[in-house]
Amino acid sequence: MTNGYRQAQVADLPEIVRIHQAAFPDFFMTALGPRFLANFYRRILSYPDHVFWLKQGNAGLEGFAAGFLHPGEFYLRMKAERLSIALIVATRVLSRLSLLPRVLASYGEVWRSIREDDKDLCELSSIAVHPDCSGKGIGQGLAAVFIEGARSRAKIIVLTTDAAGNEGVNRFYLKLGFVLADSYERSKGRWMNRYRFQLDKPPTEA
Ligand SMILES: CC(C)(COP(=O)(O)OP(=O)(O)OC[C@H]1O[C@@H](n2cnc3c(N)ncnc32)[C@H](O)[C@@H]1OP(=O)(O)O)[C@@H](O)C(=O)NCCC(=O)NCCS
Repeated sequence: MTNGYRQAQVADLPEIVRIHQAAFPDFFMTALGPRFLANFYRRILSYPDHVFWLKQGNAGLEGFAAGFLHPGEFYLRMKAERLSIALIVATRVLSRLSLLPRVLASYGEVWRSIREDDKDLCELSSIAVHPDCSGKGIGQGLAAVFIEGARSRAKIIVLTTDAAGNEGVNRFYLKLGFVLADSYERSKGRWMNRYRFQLDKPPTEA
């Protein structure tokens, strides 16, 4: 792929983790540690129906967009391996006991969101640009290659993002052509916006 956009490989995982940590410094998944993040993104890469693009710069990776088709299937695979994931999380919790209430509260959240009717869906799980490179159109470029990577394989891209205190990111998605579908309370007081992008239309109408 030209312009530095290319598909992710296993060898990119350390850089992907570094970008995630820099772009999502205060997020729960980041608090679970680099081992958890590497494990999560490795799972996406090893899932046959993944869509995972990177932006390569001269000095290293600048950003990535990661997701998967049939999200229910992806989360069911994660659920089947929840013991090995729990082990990674437990190791982290032992050194940071303050994480425990959040870990307990979020357990089951993922499994509850598993949907059966997802055969036409592609989930955009994370899009992240290193803060040193933001505001240069990289996020928009990553979203564009992600959308094209999913176009012939799904009908709708779905994603969720925080509703409150996150106006910039919400505007970013609206500008790309995502449409707000609904909002829901993921955990007490934390509202999420759910967006959809219709792929079964020509690009100019999307
Ligand atoms: C959101 C993110 C991916 C955008 O990447 P980026 O490379 O900085 O964005 P771009 O330069 O491609 O911007 C595209 C457009 O969105 C707008 N935009 C992007 N981030 C914005 C923000 N935080 N506030 C306001 N507008 C924003 C830009 O102004 C631009 O619009 P313009 O063309 O009219 O100028 C990046 O800021 C990021 O990684 N944020 C932290 C992680 C995150 O929250 N990810 C999304 C949730 S999964």
